[in-house]
Amino acid sequence: MSQKSHSHAQWSSRLAFTLAAVGSAVGLGNIWKFPYMVGQSGGAAFVLVYLVCIALIGLPILMSEWLLGRLGQKNPIATMSEISRRLKRSKAWTLVGVGGVLGAYLILSFYSVIGGWALIYTGYSASGIFTDLTSDSVGNLFSGLLASPGTLLLWHSVFMILTIAVVMGGVAGGLERAAKTLMPALGILLVVLVIYAATTPGFAAGVNYLFNPDWSKLNGEVVLAAMGHAFFTLSLGMGIMMAYGSYLSDDVNIGRTALTVVVMDTVIALLAGMAIFPIVFSNGLDAASGPGLIFQTLPLAFGHMTGGSVFGVLFFLLLVFAAWTSAISLLEPIVEWLEERSSLNRVGATLVAGLAVWLLGVASVLSFNLWSGVAPLGIFAHFAGMTVFDLLDYVTSKVMLPLTGLAAVIFVAWKMGRDEVRSQLNMSDGAFSLWHFIARFIAPLGVLAVFVSGLWI
Ligand code: PFF
Repeated sequence: MSQKSHSHAQWSSRLAFTLAAVGSAVGLGNIWKFPYMVGQSGGAAFVLVYLVCIALIGLPILMSEWLLGRLGQKNPIATMSEISRRLKRSKAWTLVGVGGVLGAYLILSFYSVIGGWALIYTGYSASGIFTDLTSDSVGNLFSGLLASPGTLLLWHSVFMILTIAVVMGGVAGGLERAAKTLMPALGILLVVLVIYAATTPGFAAGVNYLFNPDWSKLNGEVVLAAMGHAFFTLSLGMGIMMAYGSYLSDDVNIGRTALTVVVMDTVIALLAGMAIFPIVFSNGLDAASGPGLIFQTLPLAFGHMTGGSVFGVLFFLLLVFAAWTSAISLLEPIVEWLEERSSLNRVGATLVAGLAVWLLGVASVLSFNLWSGVAPLGIFAHFAGMTVFDLLDYVTSKVMLPLTGLAAVIFVAWKMGRDEVRSQLNMSDGAFSLWHFIARFIAPLGVLAVFVSGLWI
């Protein structure tokens, strides 16, 4: 810790750090959002573009964010202002950190609503309601839920309270230790689901849909969605990974650890897809049904497989847990920022931030029922028909996260000296040159190209 200006706690081990990063990365994005986006975008072409984005954009940006955090040793906003001052770069780079806090606020507001759905479905599976469900009744169960703002609000509130409680007490470390057993358990349950899916008649069709691309389905919008999701699923462009990097000790190999996180995150998403699409095809469901997809498919599996009620409860509980660790990582930077900017202590700052998130979440709750016809930006053709929930998702995943992530990688690859970057990344000459090339050209140009094609063409 020699050159570091203040005593900033360090991760006890590489494992603790990896667990925190995986805890943030693996969440609803992998199990709820990835499958429904695949379904809305027409299948494997989206998946392949997503994988390319993860490798060529997500991985180098994740490494850049950790590297900046480790150098800055402070919260993201302070880190960016400190490093830019030291390297005599514009103060505007601080906006990278500000964008992160705002993005975290917007994302958590709707993330918590979906966390509430996962809580409700834990209760449903415990009640035995899934036994012998049909595709119609599973659809009715979900649409009935969406039509009840009161229930959605209640469980959104419960999810927010769970998140606030942990952040307020500063006890996220305990959850990270729990993640060590619970994340692998989630992986195992997904494998059980894939094995079940393999016994259904739609398995081949499902796997084919996921991995055999129909390139005619590809267009600028699909590519933008795939790239945006790469940012979302890896928790990039939020300053969160930057904040984690500030706790990273100098001997941790950033490249290797980033690869571990990226691979785990991707495997979980692909397993979720392999569990869900065979069920979609076996039951004649609509792959493009949107955010309700896992809630309309998995109950069918749990209702029909042996031991399904036990697996169902366990699965939804683990999903809640995964969502919870991600939500904590979203609330934390908002609270830190508020604590620093105001006279509030941690408890006060957590309550104010939590309440503000909860309040915006109410708009997402209403998007699924009373306000389902309200399109705030409907006068623009591009946003026609988008509810508040759709807009929050669009603005964060497709605009804010890529822009802040882009700024982070440009800063590292263009504004910092090659040697300084090199000294942070413990890599061979060849690997570093390749990494630097990707970080300088491929990742930023990739983000820009996808942007232009997705937003304007
Ligand atoms: N990566 C999380 C997921 O896939 O569920 C969601 C998330 C967490 C997004 C933190 C952004 C973030 F900063």
